[in-house]
Amino acid sequence: MDSLDWNRLAVATLISVGIFAGGWILGNTLIQASPPQKPAFLIKSTDSSPDFSIADSKHGQDVAAQQCGLCHTFEENGPSKIGPNLYEIIGHKIASRKDFHYSQALSARNKETWDQQKLYQWIKNPMEMVPGTTMAFAGVNDPSDRADIIAFLSKSSPVPPPKPLATTSAAPNTDTNLQKEGKVAAQKECAACHSFDPNGRNLIGPNLYNIVNKPIANKKNYPYSQALVSQKGLWSETNLDKWLENPSLWIPNNKMIYTGVSSPQTRKAIIIYLRSLAPK
Ligand code: HEC
Ligand code: HEC
Repeated sequence: MDSLDWNRLAVATLISVGIFAGGWILGNTLIQASPPQKPAFLIKSTDSSPDFSIADSKHGQDVAAQQCGLCHTFEENGPSKIGPNLYEIIGHKIASRKDFHYSQALSARNKETWDQQKLYQWIKNPMEMVPGTTMAFAGVNDPSDRADIIAFLSKSSPVPPPKPLATTSAAPNTDTNLQKEGKVAAQKECAACHSFDPNGRNLIGPNLYNIVNKPIANKKNYPYSQALVSQKGLWSETNLDKWLENPSLWIPNNKMIYTGVSSPQTRKAIIIYLRSLAPK
């Protein structure tokens, strides 16, 4: 990155922190009926890899009726209320109901499609995922309630919901092409801050040799942020994927100042490369 890019990054970070704080205050003042919510950044992401296949859609239907029913209908051709109808929401483009007037903020995401992971982020904290959204809802705190709601919403989904990433880690992909692609991407994207060799030095970030399926924040002699240290768990491929997609969304207040790798294919390649960096 050249220095102009660093400046842009710094400005973008400041702006998004500002928007986030603003959205948070707005969110808090708008929602008085619901019980007091902890700020999102205090919530531990132990719910990082929900297994939607075991979620309880019947319970999800009840929770959705209670928590979302004031503003949303769920049945086919149901009317918009305060929010749009949610029939077949998974697999549909974001903000695409013709009869609903969306906020600018949500409309700006209308190239993307709702999948389970996005819905999970959304109902965890809509204003964190889309600062400026008009969905005045603080979020569903309980991870299993979130998974259950999504299982319920999946039932009316026109396309089979995507398999959770975790299932791919069971059958290691030995694709050497992807590994090469990942190495190139890692040199370009990550090497300014990370080394990859056995016993490589910590740079701005910790050395990344042999981290896949190892505990998070585990390198000796590296001063991790409190946020990363408190994140218990392993660097599973699912967790790495979420981290690389958007580090500060997954673990707020960590100190890896990096916007993320938006292409799922590139993330996968980088993860396969990282997996190859281990004692044989
Ligand atoms: C206080 C009213 C309110 C509550 C409660 C509420 N929503 Fe919403 N929801 C909205 C509004 C308003 C929008 C449109 C947001 C925008 O345009 O920024 C929206 C948008 C959405 C969208 C995007 C739809 C699309 O077409 O892209 C989804 C998905 C959604 N809500 C799910 C839920 C779920 C699930 C719950 C319950 C856990 C819930 N909402 C609770 C008001 C609400
Ligand atoms: C601008 C510098 C920077 C860039 C670019 C960067 N990182 Fe980081 N990375 C960091 C910092 C700083 C930390 C420590 C975060 C903390 O403690 O909160 C970190 C932490 C990590 C961790 C956690 C390691 C552990 O020991 O738990 C992983 C994994 C990681 N980075 C992967 C990557 C990958 C892969 C890329 C490229 C796609 C990348 N990073 C790009 C600075 C960076």
